[in-house]
Amino acid sequence: MRVLLIGSGAREHVIAETFKKNKDVELYSFMKSKNPGIASLSKDILIGSYSDLGGITNFAKQNNIDFAFIGPEDPLNEGVVDELQENGISAVGPTKLMARLETSKSFTRELVEKYKIGGNPKFKVFTKEYIDEIKEFLNEIEGIVVKPDGLTGGKGVKVQGDHFNTKEEALTYCREVLESHASVIVEEKLDGEEFSLQCLTDGKTVIAPPPAQDHKRAYDDDKGQNTGGMGSYSCANHLLPFLKKEHIDKALEITKKTADAIYKETGLYYNGVMYGGFILTKDGVKLLEYNARFGDPEAMNVLPLLKTDFASICQAIIVQELNRIKVVFEKKATVCKYVVPEGYPDAPIKNEKVLVEGNGKAKVYYASVDEKEDGLYMTGSRAIAFLGVGDNLEEAEKIAEEAACSVKGRIFHRKDIGTKALIEKRVKHVGSF
Ligand SMILES: Nc1ncnc2c1ncn2[C@@H]1O[C@H](COP(=O)(O)OP(=O)(O)O)[C@@H](O)[C@H]1O
Ligand SMILES: [Mg+2]
Repeated sequence: MRVLLIGSGAREHVIAETFKKNKDVELYSFMKSKNPGIASLSKDILIGSYSDLGGITNFAKQNNIDFAFIGPEDPLNEGVVDELQENGISAVGPTKLMARLETSKSFTRELVEKYKIGGNPKFKVFTKEYIDEIKEFLNEIEGIVVKPDGLTGGKGVKVQGDHFNTKEEALTYCREVLESHASVIVEEKLDGEEFSLQCLTDGKTVIAPPPAQDHKRAYDDDKGQNTGGMGSYSCANHLLPFLKKEHIDKALEITKKTADAIYKETGLYYNGVMYGGFILTKDGVKLLEYNARFGDPEAMNVLPLLKTDFASICQAIIVQELNRIKVVFEKKATVCKYVVPEGYPDAPIKNEKVLVEGNGKAKVYYASVDEKEDGLYMTGSRAIAFLGVGDNLEEAEKIAEEAACSVKGRIFHRKDIGTKALIEKRVKHVGSF
């Protein structure tokens, strides 16, 4: 079986590893920059731009690809799935229109509202013509969150108390957003604990893997800037310490109803990953957003636990027979920790050498590193992810922490991810509602 994998981060490294558990899979990888981990698992690679849809399609055709799997959101937004399909190549991942689930936060909020799915906070979408009405709405909500309606690489959402304080500042940011985006979403700020449920779907059947919790802030104890994600964990019982089964059931129910709503709205079945970013609040589970692909780091929490052949799952998604596959995840705990360059995320050092020893126990996934003749160099973003897998969180955390500590160079990582102290804080937060 010949699979085209698009993407070059640690998320795609773990996707590649997951495909390669099946010896019959040959991987062909299209990357933005060369990931040494993905390259070593691939039969052939091509480096290029995600907007070069012709180049991607030619690479697929030359290698007689059976199907493509798309890792990141950018190629989805470029319409790579549409282009592949027009050339007779199947893909796991939504078309440009369907990827609006991620690329347009107004599309998703309005869909969830229209089909009475539940889980939305109070929200309103504004275009430039209605800028004067924003002020009114700001008076109707308790705390304020402002979201640009489009991809911003995780850097567009601003939350009152974190990024701004007053209503005037919120309004100023709304105006700024409307300079570069067609619309802006203003919504009520929710208080709670966030979790990710990265469902797989063929549009009819929705399958939930274990939930995971990411850590966006750069430093220990959730201090510092927001980042792409410094690490994440998942638990052996496939819940999280602050989540009950009913909460996961609710998140899955919202996702199933959303998949149905997409079909009703467009007449088309969504195909690929529906990653729900949820938050458990005093009023239950609420939806923050959907992403149209796996999370990075959260892909590393779930894919290594997959016991079912991933290529078979993908093929079932393509022929819309996911209902026939029993998808099983191991009952293990996982902790993922990213090692990042000094100065990340604002002013990361670049072209600095990094020495990875590992501890022989943690899984190692490469992200922003460049392999030169004399070793690995960091290129400025999150560099290397380490994953500990164990019977419980304590064991998994120890493995990941030890491995992260073994890295030599001008780097740092969060020591607190997956530790008892931080988990207790999360549980206490939910208990205080
Ligand atoms: N309504 C909300 N209330 C409180 N915090 C929110 C809300 N919406 C988003 N956030 C915070 O902002 C982060 C980013 O928002 P999200 O909708 O996930 O957009 P993106 O991931 O595209 O930046 C979330 O992880 C969450 O911490
Ligand atoms: Mg998010």
